[in-house]
Amino acid sequence: MSRKNIESVLNEERLFEPPPAFAAQAGIRLEDLAMLHSRAAADPVGFWGDLARTELIWDRPFTQVLDAGGAPHYRWFADGRLNVSANCLDRHLEARGHKTALIFEGEPGDTRRLSYRELHAAVCRLANALRRLGVGYGDRVVIYMPLIPESIVAMHACARIGAIHSVVFGGFSSVALRERIRDAGAKLVITADGGHRGGHVIPLKEATDKALAADCDSVEHVIVCRRVSQPVTMRPGRDLWWHDVVDGESPVCAPVPVDAEHPLFLLYTSGSTGKPKGIQHASAGFLLGAKVTTQWVFDLREDDVFWCTADVGWVTGHSYNAYGPLAAGATIVMYEGAPTIPDGGRFWKICETHGVTIFYTAPTAIRALMKLGEELPARYDLSKLRLLGSVGEPINPEAWMWYHRVIGRERCPIVDTWWQTETGAIMISPIPGVTPTKPGSCTQPLPGIQADIVDEAGEPVTQPDAGGYLVIRNPWPFMLRTIWGDDERYRSTYWAKFQNRFYVAGDSAHRDADGYYWIMGRIDDVLNVAGHRLGTMEIESALVAHPRIAEAAVVGRPHEIKGEAVFAFVVCRGTRASGDTASLVAELRDWVTQQLGAIARPDDIRVTDALPKTRSGKIMRRLLRAIARGEEITQDVSTLENPAIVDQLRGVESKPAKRKPVKKKQKPRAVSREKRKVPKKKQAASTRKSAKMARRKVAPRKRR
Ligand code: WTA
Repeated sequence: MSRKNIESVLNEERLFEPPPAFAAQAGIRLEDLAMLHSRAAADPVGFWGDLARTELIWDRPFTQVLDAGGAPHYRWFADGRLNVSANCLDRHLEARGHKTALIFEGEPGDTRRLSYRELHAAVCRLANALRRLGVGYGDRVVIYMPLIPESIVAMHACARIGAIHSVVFGGFSSVALRERIRDAGAKLVITADGGHRGGHVIPLKEATDKALAADCDSVEHVIVCRRVSQPVTMRPGRDLWWHDVVDGESPVCAPVPVDAEHPLFLLYTSGSTGKPKGIQHASAGFLLGAKVTTQWVFDLREDDVFWCTADVGWVTGHSYNAYGPLAAGATIVMYEGAPTIPDGGRFWKICETHGVTIFYTAPTAIRALMKLGEELPARYDLSKLRLLGSVGEPINPEAWMWYHRVIGRERCPIVDTWWQTETGAIMISPIPGVTPTKPGSCTQPLPGIQADIVDEAGEPVTQPDAGGYLVIRNPWPFMLRTIWGDDERYRSTYWAKFQNRFYVAGDSAHRDADGYYWIMGRIDDVLNVAGHRLGTMEIESALVAHPRIAEAAVVGRPHEIKGEAVFAFVVCRGTRASGDTASLVAELRDWVTQQLGAIARPDDIRVTDALPKTRSGKIMRRLLRAIARGEEITQDVSTLENPAIVDQLRGVESKPAKRKPVKKKQKPRAVSREKRKVPKKKQAASTRKSAKMARRKVAPRKRR
């Protein structure tokens, strides 16, 4: 088998030390981190066992940390019992009962604050109501709600009684919802009359009704939370208003101790096939991961106001909204709507209004807001911000620098956190007071996580900057346990490739000479051009480094001689003059050649007004591939945010320009030093080479 490595062809040399003022106050200092790493390395199982004992409250302590059953099924703390909701709420009632747990802001501007006591009472009421409706230990409850406090109340109410929740993102269609309800065999659905998003009302109840119209016999009841006060149809006997079911319920509900391995939730995520996978997480292990990583990575302090912009429909909203920060006793901010309502300053306004100190979002949002300029964030007082985070995709260095300069005002460390729905919590990330950061790198694995990069044969790739498969060598408590109802798929997706030797993340990555990880993208986004493997994200990153380009998506298409050719779809910054497409395309080809080398020069570039994105915000690469190959589109495009874009993508409007000869001289660096605005001294101090990469996914979802 070929051992060709995924080639990385960009360089990124900037290095940012933790700001001294931040480092001086940080909860984890250099020596603390060294200690955590050395303890974890010496005894990984004991390391997690100690943390589980000290960080979690157990109803029955465990006697064995890890079942030595072997890959790919691991059981953590298996004979211990606890309750996740009690670990997030009850444990704080005494010391933090009156502390604000949650600050909510709706898109229309309404706000609410819930103390730990109030949140606890709301959870207990709903938990009692669920019980009364016959929901018990192990039953599945699907939650399909706007991002309002009740979504978290619903999750905790399930956890409190040992029911398994499965949150379905409110941007999913009724078809997707039905598929998930069916796969999970849900007994009850919790939804709302609607939610506000992008200036529109999202008719969630209507979608739920459509989903339940066929093949959902398992569902006995639907609880409907009133949010938008729009008329909805309530089916007698099945549908109940939230306010009615909790009315008269006691604000106390004894938490049910569950086995550590009892599933806390299922969360559906897309895989390489069309059918979504129900990623199954365990109770204790997941909670431990969410809690300790919140503390480590976000340097959480008692007075922090923590805002993770993710919807609870995604894993980030589970680990860093619903569970991690609450387990750690933090105050979280929750915002219902789109970042551009009423204008692109909304996020910054929320930071100012609620005194946000830690802000965690996705590169796609950063890029979308970056596109709107610096004037909007400049209007707001962002002086309380002390730490910024990024998750979900590689952050391209341009977006990183903008985040650092315009939002962090060069004062806040940025934690670029790599992890997945499957990993449960952050796996590779800087520790903000300790780890020097490099724009575009998620830096190094957290203590207790043995990440590695291996080649096709499963051998470690030791040469710096050579790419390979990102794998995790050891089990960790917050890893997924299986795919709900499809253990075979669990084995084949994550373990089979290297005969159960390690967890295969499905991402390609490389490590630089400092041992920093650079995620290059999903394995299936890797192209093989003339025998060279190229991460599509790298080409995308090069394209967006061009001053006129806002977003880019790169896919492969078959090529007679080279095997595969590079096909790029690009979106311009601002408005583009019609008629200049051909010259722009030529310019971009030369640009990519300059940035990356002739090998990466796109054969086709199509200029378009938008990229096709699902409502969850991912670029529909399969659709782009089909277009690039000139194939008929068989994919369902109804989930597209903007279905009208398909014709444009096909080139009905703009045709690729004629190819230009490749320039002989190539400059490997992405952006010139002058442009980077980095002091010469800093650059000289860091001459290490490494790749940068990135990828555009999506502007934030505007409406269903
Ligand atoms: C990508 C989101 C680069 C990666 C928590 C992974 C990232 C997938 C990063 C998981 C990052 C996530 N840098 N790539 N910091 N974080 N990814 O399941 O490809 O929605 O496999 O979990 O996002 O996406 P998921």
